[in-house]
Amino acid sequence: MNFKRNFAVLGSAAAMMLALSACGGGAGSAGGDSQTLRLALNQTETHPSYIALDNLGTNVEESTGGRVSVEVYANETLGAQQEAIQLVSDGTIDMAVVSGTQLENLNPDFQVFNLPGVFDSVEHQMGVIGDDAVVGELYTSLEDQNLTVLGGFTQGTRSIYNTAGPVNTPEDLAGKKVRVQESDVQMTMIELMGGAPTPMAFGEVYTALQSGVIDGAENNEISYLTQKHNEVAKYFSNTNHLVGLDYVVINTAAFEAMTEEDRAAFEEQWAAAVEEHTTLWLDETEKAHADLEASGTEFNDVDAEAFDAALEPLIEEFIDTEVEQTIYDAARAAAE
Ligand code: GCU
Repeated sequence: MNFKRNFAVLGSAAAMMLALSACGGGAGSAGGDSQTLRLALNQTETHPSYIALDNLGTNVEESTGGRVSVEVYANETLGAQQEAIQLVSDGTIDMAVVSGTQLENLNPDFQVFNLPGVFDSVEHQMGVIGDDAVVGELYTSLEDQNLTVLGGFTQGTRSIYNTAGPVNTPEDLAGKKVRVQESDVQMTMIELMGGAPTPMAFGEVYTALQSGVIDGAENNEISYLTQKHNEVAKYFSNTNHLVGLDYVVINTAAFEAMTEEDRAAFEEQWAAAVEEHTTLWLDETEKAHADLEASGTEFNDVDAEAFDAALEPLIEEFIDTEVEQTIYDAARAAAE
């Protein structure tokens, strides 16, 4: 399967765009001198990303004297990530949180940060993705599509969960349909881990698990809990195969429409939001784990060496340009 995107011919969000224009939408172009940035998020209001971005909205409004504000639309109400990124690109909405998997479909260099084994921990990851010397041109590489990457929020460590029983080795995933994000890296990753990858949007996973369309999925404990996947897939196996990464993207024209002073204030608040998100993430992960244990999730440790060995070919398969190799080497050097 090839997930590479071409917005010009896609048109899959037409219905959403119509719905938005019917209620007066438009990129960061609210009345008078003020600019309300509408942000699409696929998480609930209890998720750290919602909390940090909602606070970002309050702080930006305050520090720009009300000239710029951010409104966060949770729960995929502005569309799943595949649609949301297109809506930001064409200016129907202004901002979105999208997984790195979505950006790899626009520029393959983003694949590097979507690979297992690149980041050892949340702390390592946040250091790397905030270092201009490592990310180079990555965050500005989509400006020809009117997308500016502000930076990243961690997705924490991701593991496999399923409806049938504990997974210990790749053999235990044989014949199991495991939901993945719409991404070549994720498809190959699950194949190597022994399962049958099934791409679908995040918001469809609960029903798909419940109805048996899929047998399992992979995510962090916070999303597993806030999406209530624990209700329908109670076996959570600590494969810890990936430290995942989300990005916050903004429509480039909307970003540039701010005065220099407002943009500086916005960027300062954005940096504070990243800090807040990381702190919240670490606390909420511990809490989620305890809540899940108390409410019947069965956790188990896996044969980590077997999964590491299975995943080994992934790096070689996806790091195949000089730019990717340079980013990868710099990310790994920062781990040592
Ligand atoms: C995480 C991540 C989301 C992503 C989701 C998924 O929850 O934060 O951005 O959409 O995983 O698996 O689709």
